Amino acid sequence: MPLESLDASDFTETLLALRNHLEQMARWGCRGFDCSPASLALLQEWSRPPAENVKAPAHSPKETPLPSTGETLEDIRSDLGECRRCGLSAGRTHIVFGEGSPDAELVFVGEGPGFEEDRSGRPFVGPAGELLARIIEAMKLTREKVYICNVVKCRPPENRNPEPAEIQACRPFLQRQVAALRPKVICALGTFAAQTLLDTPQAISALRGHFHDLNGIKVMPTFHPSYLLRHPEYKREVWADMKKVMALLRIPL
Ligand code: URA
Ligand code: URA
Repeated sequence: MPLESLDASDFTETLLALRNHLEQMARWGCRGFDCSPASLALLQEWSRPPAENVKAPAHSPKETPLPSTGETLEDIRSDLGECRRCGLSAGRTHIVFGEGSPDAELVFVGEGPGFEEDRSGRPFVGPAGELLARIIEAMKLTREKVYICNVVKCRPPENRNPEPAEIQACRPFLQRQVAALRPKVICALGTFAAQTLLDTPQAISALRGHFHDLNGIKVMPTFHPSYLLRHPEYKREVWADMKKVMALLRIPL
């Protein structure tokens, strides 16, 4: 359709919607086309209303909280499909997408499935999962009330660390899960969850113990339950972190 034939207000709306979509996709980690801040500003410039009667948006993009994408967890799971986006797919038995309440106020994000999780398709059901379940119960919650997922959805061979390319391939799905859930708090379990969610190279020991912001969602990094199984002396720190989460959720001690 030639530009002249477009109604001016339709055109403005279309450009603004495009800008918002591109911005959203950039946040999700989509790469390969230009959604740099400079290009988004240019799109915004193009969408300036040519006539006074076209209403400008009330907020600048920076002030606008992350908009709801309207996606459900089922939509995201179905888009993931029988994923072959990275090499981990070759060795997996089941994709471990995540489970729990879609209305959870608290979401736990781990690193990736282990042996039991790969076999069952469920997150945190092995030894680390048993410890996580005890932590959740100590917080006076249940697995059913929270949501539990991982950075990578397929088991790394021999439980090795996920590689950067594997994390990058899976990251948009984690970000979309977070956008669909919009919990009050995310507890990032261990280095990979904390660094991936917060997009930082900082060590878990520096990140843990206080809240970080992720588009208006509070993120509390803490030590991973697998790490606690090897180093039980750090349970005290994890419990201190969980008490801060409980306070935020107004759960009495
Ligand atoms: N460790 C994780 O990080 N995630 C699981 O699901 C299980 C163990
Ligand atoms: N290293 C990790 O990956 N996780 C921890 O919780 C601590 C050290």
